Amino acid sequence: MSLNLVVLVSGRGTNLQAILDAQVSRTIQSKVSLVISNKKDALALERAAKANVPTQVVPSKDKTSEEFFAELLTVVQNAKPDLIVLAGFMKILPPSFVQAFEGKIINIHPSLLPKFPGLNAQNQALEAGETETGCTVHYVDEGCDTGPIILQKTESILPNDTEDSLSQRLLKKEHVCLIEALQKLESFS
Ligand code: GRF
Repeated sequence: MSLNLVVLVSGRGTNLQAILDAQVSRTIQSKVSLVISNKKDALALERAAKANVPTQVVPSKDKTSEEFFAELLTVVQNAKPDLIVLAGFMKILPPSFVQAFEGKIINIHPSLLPKFPGLNAQNQALEAGETETGCTVHYVDEGCDTGPIILQKTESILPNDTEDSLSQRLLKKEHVCLIEALQKLESFS
């Protein structure tokens, strides 16, 4: 089934691009109806504009967290999403927001959760001396990167890997993982 997707971003938006490309190639049936960024200069906004997808900036700067999330809630509610995709959205959603869209928010994270939640997950894996890491698409619950797992993909850590080289390889896996997760969710609905 086709899902109405709202994508939340903060930065460069390569995961958003993977979704937009999959939409054009009909690898997924779902459509992005709105891209929301909390940063006005996010590259992700340009990617959405190029794909003729509506964008909205809800700035997080110069306001309280309560004000920001109240504004975000209204904007997202108005878009009536079937699914909200966090694609490099660098804010932790408060419980009130998560509860308003229970079971309808997913996130892509660059580790094999429950290992290495939070920031710099690639570096956490390197520093822990792992020989393998990966990425995870999961439902968002009230914790940080703790919700039920939808799909994971593994990636080897090579002896000479740096944070940068590992992140670049993982990012490619993330794009595949995110699209396959969306296909899985489409088949459920
Ligand atoms: C990705 O590594 C994603 O897993 C993490 O933030 C990064 C976003 O990259 N949550 P991009 O903006 O999609 O290129």
